[in-house]
Amino acid sequence: MGKNNKKRGDFMNNFTYDIGTKIHFGTDALDYIGEEAKKYADKILLTYGGGSIKKNGVYDKVIKELEGAGIEVFELSGIQPNPRIDSVREGVRILKENGIGAILAVGGGSTIDASKFMAAGACADFDPWKFISEKRPMSPAIPLLSVLTMAATGSEMDCGGVITNPETKEKLSSGHADTRPKVSFLNPELTYTVSKFQTAAGSADILSHIFETYFNIDGTMFMLDRIMEALMKTVIKYGPIAIKDPENYEARANLMWASSWAINDFISDSSQAAWTVHPIEHELSAFYDITHGLGLAILTPRWMEYCLSEKTVHKFVDLGVNVFDLDKDQEPMEIARQTIEKVKKFFFEDLGLDSNLRKVGIDERHFDEMSKKACGKAGVKKGFIDLRPEDVKKIYEMCLED
Ligand code: NZQ
Ligand code: ZN
Repeated sequence: MGKNNKKRGDFMNNFTYDIGTKIHFGTDALDYIGEEAKKYADKILLTYGGGSIKKNGVYDKVIKELEGAGIEVFELSGIQPNPRIDSVREGVRILKENGIGAILAVGGGSTIDASKFMAAGACADFDPWKFISEKRPMSPAIPLLSVLTMAATGSEMDCGGVITNPETKEKLSSGHADTRPKVSFLNPELTYTVSKFQTAAGSADILSHIFETYFNIDGTMFMLDRIMEALMKTVIKYGPIAIKDPENYEARANLMWASSWAINDFISDSSQAAWTVHPIEHELSAFYDITHGLGLAILTPRWMEYCLSEKTVHKFVDLGVNVFDLDKDQEPMEIARQTIEKVKKFFFEDLGLDSNLRKVGIDERHFDEMSKKACGKAGVKKGFIDLRPEDVKKIYEMCLED
């Protein structure tokens, strides 16, 4: 028993940590594809997006590796950003019809996420949207491997995936330990061709994943808070460098590894707070199909302003002093305000992302519905502070102007 009668463990979650994903990292990462894939299946479904991997040579390298290992390759291309349930249905059909034993997803979060639903769908006898609509468990699943081509979501090393149903205007997540990639191949050079905009949006996404855990009123572990601060500093330092100098290996490598560690459960296992800004953003991308990281960048500083109070100010002080090097001898509220200005500067000046919703063509017309949905199935209660639909609506409204 501690001094204040709290049981040991009360201040944080108990947890079991099992990383579950083997990583090959570096310029030779893709050389391991053949030998790794062969361990899982003789027939592989190769999934990818709109064709960037054909332009930059990644496709040829992957095919060479798979065929060199004697693996029969099937393909599903055209997985869109904010991936749709229809791609999942198509993938499941190919997997089942051909008795394919594993998936190799080559791309960003959208391709990897959709492939997670396919991996579970291959083992299910129902429509894969039911993983969302009926919360059916995404287990069992066939093995998934991934080649990451942009640093952002961390899908290469986490269990979860986010899928969109355009008919119902829903974008929701699910996942299971069985859908976590078994092996991921991370060569930072593959991200040299990612556009400035996607590099910026990806950096905003990584930072947001860390914020979602860091802003935890009940306290995490000191050790994990400091690791999160190091990860944040990494993104703040290297995001702008990668934008200016796309072929800077050091920047691309730091962003890529930070993307995985921001969400692979290492930093989050002690946190009791539910993610908040993500479900609010998912409504923006569900209704307007905007880029996830851009939506997060616009929302985050307004969410921070909305959350700031005497009760929460200490987290802003930590962030400002430890990450943005603000003077710790100022009044806490003053440090907090300066911290939020630093966050804005990073997103809107250093990364060059649009700073409000009107700039990306979004107005208030769906705010009521989006606010209710964000608090519904996806939920934003029990976060850093509890948010009800009327709070979420105010946050959306704050995003309309600079
Ligand atoms: O489709 P292609 O032609 O490959 O082009 C993609 C796409 O247009 C392009 N791109 C990717 N790698 C490239 C490249 N272009 C040139 N060179 C390369 N090397 O970038 C565009 C965006 O790709 P996408 O996969 O959509 O980006 P991202 O990785 O940001 O994934 C976003 C999706 O992941 C979800 C988001 O909601 C969104 O649907 N998330 C998944 C999470 C998870 N699994 O844990 C967590 C996140 O919070 C997020 O919600
Ligand atoms: Zn995200």
